[in-house]
Amino acid sequence: GSPATRTPTGAETSTGPEQVGQQGAHLTTAQGARLRDTDHSLKAGARGPTLLQDHHLREKIMHFDHERIPERVVHARGAAAHGVFVGYGNAESVCRATFLGKDVKTPVFTRFSPVVGSRGSADAVRDTRGFATKFYTDEGVFDLVGNNIPVFFIQDAIKFPDVVHAAKPHPDREIPQAQSAHDTFWDFVGLHTEASHHVMWQMSDRGIPRSYRMMEGFGVHTFRLVDASGGTSLVKFHWKPRLGVHSLVWEEAQLVNGVDPDFHRRDLADAIESGAPPQWELGIQVFPDTPEQTFEGIDLLDPTKVVPEELAPVQPVGLMTLDANPTNYFAETEQVAFHPGHLVPGIDVTDDPLLQGRLFSYLDTQLTRLGGPNFAQIPINRPHAPVNDMLRDGWHQDAVHSGAAPYKPNSLDGGCPFFAGADVEALTEVAATVPEGHKVRESPASYADHFTQPRMFFRSLSPVEQEHTIRAYTFELGRCYEEAIKERYLGVLAEIDADLCAGVARGLGLDVPSRGPTGDVGVQRAQDMPPSPALSQV
Ligand code: HEM
Repeated sequence: GSPATRTPTGAETSTGPEQVGQQGAHLTTAQGARLRDTDHSLKAGARGPTLLQDHHLREKIMHFDHERIPERVVHARGAAAHGVFVGYGNAESVCRATFLGKDVKTPVFTRFSPVVGSRGSADAVRDTRGFATKFYTDEGVFDLVGNNIPVFFIQDAIKFPDVVHAAKPHPDREIPQAQSAHDTFWDFVGLHTEASHHVMWQMSDRGIPRSYRMMEGFGVHTFRLVDASGGTSLVKFHWKPRLGVHSLVWEEAQLVNGVDPDFHRRDLADAIESGAPPQWELGIQVFPDTPEQTFEGIDLLDPTKVVPEELAPVQPVGLMTLDANPTNYFAETEQVAFHPGHLVPGIDVTDDPLLQGRLFSYLDTQLTRLGGPNFAQIPINRPHAPVNDMLRDGWHQDAVHSGAAPYKPNSLDGGCPFFAGADVEALTEVAATVPEGHKVRESPASYADHFTQPRMFFRSLSPVEQEHTIRAYTFELGRCYEEAIKERYLGVLAEIDADLCAGVARGLGLDVPSRGPTGDVGVQRAQDMPPSPALSQV
């Protein structure tokens, strides 16, 4: 490849030569036998019929017939790049992970992705963007599987199939590819008001990034860090782009999607190839690990809430530079398998019920998407740390394992494996967070506040940004067929901000509702608040 491409590297797992796909000066079969002709089938005479005996014909077509694998159920379309992460060394007081050490260089692979569209959809749509980074650290793979929006639609993973079914194209016509402009989406988010905050970010300018290079990234959930002496803190991860945060305005996005549906992936690849590698600082907001797991009254386990940076500043802990394009889209960008449970010593999960469900989902879906249980052996997924597991056999097994005892305890292969240095789990007390110890299907009371933070977000926007947001709601809701869905959503907006609601109602030609979904209190509450400056501009 060109200097700006890099092939994934990994541990040798085979006793034979590594399969690189293209060796030698001659075309061959998959068995390495030289081909005489790849343009003509073997036939009984020039006019046929074709002979079943032609192995090359059958092998070539058989393989082509199976070139496609299932696309990701979400985040199907993506663009990725290789790079390096360099630690600043200032996180040691909270985290023992060695890759955060001063000047430690760790190879990374980052994949950006719209969520809803299929693999062939357009880039510059209004949607959330995935921002997933694989750190190939000396202590194993750490994946930070985040988004460009700091909150999520749901508070519990059990709702993920619901939100995705509502956001995906309608089951009958399979339109639209874009996230929001349809009845099922607005039907769901109008009835499920915990989505209000995420929806607000999508309707803001954040919903249409100018470039992947100009997006923030967020781990969304609160994670737990562990220091060298076992002390713990709670953190939220942030990526801050060196180029700043920029968006396309709606009209620009419409032109871009028509003229160049590959706008974002082209932009990323071109920037890297032309020697302008994008950079992001990794930062953390740090909170004390108290039994309540709250900070300034904000529930840290609720993924629909942010902690404002004024209350907890983002402290930079390292720099990522993406400086090399993939050599092969399928091998790398398509086959990469991220997982929020890929953690290294010093970083652990919390009990956020959305995160807990994700820990099941990614392995499960990859089992199907990547054809069996051995996808960690695909070059792009191989750890750069030594692997010594007792996983054996299965479809697409690449490793030729030696030894006779893949079990423990054993007395044949050197007895027990060596366990030092392995603490990933911070074994916190469940009793601290579940004092009553009962199994329940319910959420903490604080999860019921769905409107304070979207209101705060809307009122933090500049007048121009508020105007864009009002127009976005108006356009997207205006595409719904069902009047009742629009009217119900105006009720949600009334709970958030009276001016926002009035602006959208006016755009839709509908009345301002007298009641929000929690009753008329919310509307009055919103009207009681100081007017936002946006309305006069719309
Ligand atoms: C894929 C982020 C919630 C299931 C992804 C990807 C990202 C992401 C960035 C694309 C990974 C890639 O580039 O290959 C997030 C964030 C979430 C969230 C930030 C919430 C804060 C969930 C939940 C579930 C889920 C709750 C399920 C319960 C999936 C699945 C994939 C995926 C199945 C496809 C993975 C694959 O095929 O490799 N998610 N996600 N996500 N996510 Fe999530």
